[in-house]
Amino acid sequence: MIYSLSNLNIMKSDRILVIGANGQIGSVLVEYLKGIYGEGMVVASDLRVPAHPAGIFEKLDASDAQGLSALVKKYKVTQIYHLAAILSAKGEQDPLRTWNINMQTYLNVLEVARQNDVRKIFYPSSIAVFGDQAKGQAEQWSYLDPATVYGISKAAGENWSNYYFKKYGMDIRSLRYPGIISYQSMPGGGTTDYAVDIFHKAVNGEVFECFLKEDTKLPMIYMNDAMDATVRLMEAPKEKITVRTSYNLAGMSFDPAEIAASIRKVIPSFEITYKPDSRQEIADSWPGTIDDSQARKDWGWRPAYSIDKMTEEMISELRKSHIHSLKH
Ligand SMILES: NC(=O)c1ccc[n+]([C@@H]2O[C@H](COP(=O)([O-])OP(=O)(O)OC[C@H]3O[C@@H](n4cnc5c(N)ncnc54)[C@H](O)[C@@H]3O)[C@@H](O)[C@H]2O)c1
Repeated sequence: MIYSLSNLNIMKSDRILVIGANGQIGSVLVEYLKGIYGEGMVVASDLRVPAHPAGIFEKLDASDAQGLSALVKKYKVTQIYHLAAILSAKGEQDPLRTWNINMQTYLNVLEVARQNDVRKIFYPSSIAVFGDQAKGQAEQWSYLDPATVYGISKAAGENWSNYYFKKYGMDIRSLRYPGIISYQSMPGGGTTDYAVDIFHKAVNGEVFECFLKEDTKLPMIYMNDAMDATVRLMEAPKEKITVRTSYNLAGMSFDPAEIAASIRKVIPSFEITYKPDSRQEIADSWPGTIDDSQARKDWGWRPAYSIDKMTEEMISELRKSHIHSLKH
């Protein structure tokens, strides 16, 4: 992956801890950060230890504040990316557990960071913070009335970020990610997961049964754009950051019928059927498009991928790994 981050003044002395590093985003972000800051500067951590950890890996349950504090001290951590969370669809299966995990882990990160002078924190928020008040298009300052416990926890996390910034001057930065589409990793139980699965089925020559209706338009972003936005935000000069809750971030918006049509331009025989389940209700509570003009204005955000450009790359990358798995 080649990104033009050359115009940013990156501090290569930063020691970065990624919490929730084995997930859809973390497994890509860790490699991306290593490419920028250096292999030895990135500590990956998660509840589960991967079969073949590459680089520095520490097992950590972020609900354990003491364990987190020990890691931060051990590696003299200066930046934390806190990715651990229970996502939207999975979260609805046990709302109180989701609230407890999502909030406790983040409050631990904030407190441990405050006590150990961690320079910067990244907090991923979500389009799930929006509800009925932002139907259609979500503006940067649309009222937040989330319909899921996941969205409630993300909105609370945004407010805690702003609180720690105002009260303690802590440099916490956040993006409201749309659904993230990646070939490198599988999603972990969200409402936009179909938009990754659809590519796997298409490449395998299978019919895809979609759990959302064909006209359910949702905001999405390609992983490469999400990585670029994340580091661009984290490396922007402090005075450029005017939003201390969370920035709206948009890549593209499409519904299942539109992404199927884009896939058919590359794989004409691809077929999709529709069987909406409980995730339809969650999707219906989210906005179809996101206005990210504040992010564009403050720190120069621009997505590089259109739907068709993403589709071509997804299919070509998945075909390579499909061939690879057939050989082994
Ligand atoms: N993927 C998306 O489309 C998307 C969209 C919006 C926001 N986000 C946010 O980005 C972050 C990362 O998302 P993801 O898609 O990679 O999620 P994921 O579910 O794929 O990964 C989350 C990781 O966190 C780990 N984890 C869970 N509880 C933990 C704990 N107590 N301590 C340590 N690790 C723990 C899990 O083992 C998992 O590896 C989340 O906060 C999510 O809410 C993701």
